[in-house]
Amino acid sequence: MIMNAAIRFSSPFFYSSSPLFALLDMKTWILLGALLAGGTLGRQHSFISDQCGSHPAPSCSLSINITSPDSCCMETNAGLFVLSQFWDVYAGFEDRWTIHGLWNNFCNYTFCNDCDDQRAYTNITSILISRQAYKLLQDMNNNWPNPAGHVDEFWSHEWNKHGVCMSTFAPRCYTGQDVFQGMIDFYNTTINLSHKYDIYKALERHGIVPGDSYTTALIQKVIEKEFGMIPDLRCNDKGHLEETWIYFHMKGPVKRMDLVPAHNANATNCNKTLVYPTKYPNDDLLDREV
Ligand SMILES: *[C@@H]1O[C@H](CO)[C@@H](O)[C@H](O)[C@H]1NC(C)=O
Ligand SMILES: *[C@@H]1O[C@H](CO)[C@@H](O)[C@H](O)[C@H]1NC(C)=O
Ligand SMILES: *[C@@H]1O[C@H](CO)[C@@H](O)[C@H](O)[C@H]1NC(C)=O
Ligand SMILES: *[C@@H]1O[C@H](CO)[C@@H](O)[C@H](O)[C@H]1NC(C)=O
Ligand SMILES: *[C@@H]1O[C@H](CO)[C@@H](O)[C@H](O)[C@H]1NC(C)=O
Ligand SMILES: *[C@@H]1O[C@H](CO)[C@@H](O)[C@H](O)[C@H]1NC(C)=O
Ligand SMILES: *[C@@H]1O[C@H](CO)[C@@H](O)[C@H](O)[C@H]1NC(C)=O
Repeated sequence: MIMNAAIRFSSPFFYSSSPLFALLDMKTWILLGALLAGGTLGRQHSFISDQCGSHPAPSCSLSINITSPDSCCMETNAGLFVLSQFWDVYAGFEDRWTIHGLWNNFCNYTFCNDCDDQRAYTNITSILISRQAYKLLQDMNNNWPNPAGHVDEFWSHEWNKHGVCMSTFAPRCYTGQDVFQGMIDFYNTTINLSHKYDIYKALERHGIVPGDSYTTALIQKVIEKEFGMIPDLRCNDKGHLEETWIYFHMKGPVKRMDLVPAHNANATNCNKTLVYPTKYPNDDLLDREV
């Protein structure tokens, strides 16, 4: 239906410099999409960017026109992405890292945040339930816990601060009337990326498991081998590993997840040696007798 119609316009033609395509700006595409969808939309919300295909150049490359209106197809202004995952010893499963967030920085590594107060929400769980996104909600509860409070506080913080800054999730990139669809896609994409970049399994494949000390260089090397980028490892002031930031650029809209790994110049705040601690270290100190 709408998807088939969309696919016919997919890359590489969308990026063709032919005059015909140049004439059709994003608004026209949206109208065209709505027209072709007819009355069959129902609960479906077509993502305009499904028409984009893979962009020939990654975000932040010089050929990206940051004032171009095609920002549903490409993160134009802030195209340097960070997937941030916690090794929080007080949250989540013992054999999984948990999600901090997916951020898009400006290409010069400075932050981009709080871009649209109008789309700042607090009732994330209710929205997901109202959209029957039960599997996503389950995945988020399992992999994106908030050890310091209610999950809605953490999830809304991440969307309100970072997700709204991603141009490819903007409402005008969707033909449906659901203002929340971009946010749902943001959470779903972040969950998907955290499964793809499973730090626990990557380290475990190389014999690196919690409860021991390792050199920072070894962990950097292993993640680079597994995922193609040198991670920015973050340690707390006890020298314990607590977070991993991996960087990448995107060829096309975030939702397509067509990533190009990027380095952050071997940045880390960890010392030469770090501790990869086991989770829930204090639980055996608790007096459980009744
Ligand atoms: C970038 O896009 C803007 C808006 O469409 C256009 O005016 C400008 O000429 C483009 N710049 C380049 C270098 O293509
Ligand atoms: C980084 O890029 C952003 C967006 O282009 C710009 O507003 C900011 O001034 C730049 N910061 C530095 C330190 O160059
Ligand atoms: C969530 O909050 C927004 C206002 O921020 C409101 O418009 C919307 O109806 C709420 N949705 C649900 C499902 O509670
Ligand atoms: C999340 O993405 C998957 C594909 O990766 C898709 O099957 C699923 O329907 C999406 N969930 C929501 C709630 O959009
Ligand atoms: C992630 O998205 C890709 C592409 O849409 C899909 O093939 C894959 O099944 C998804 N993985 C998960 C764990 O949702
Ligand atoms: C690095 O080691 C010093 C000296 O042992 C210690 O004081 C500091 O907290 C450590 N920092 C990190 C981030 O591991
Ligand atoms: C990272 O460090 C290694 C070893 O110290 C060095 O060979 C490499 O060039 C560095 N990479 C970057 C991107 O700075």
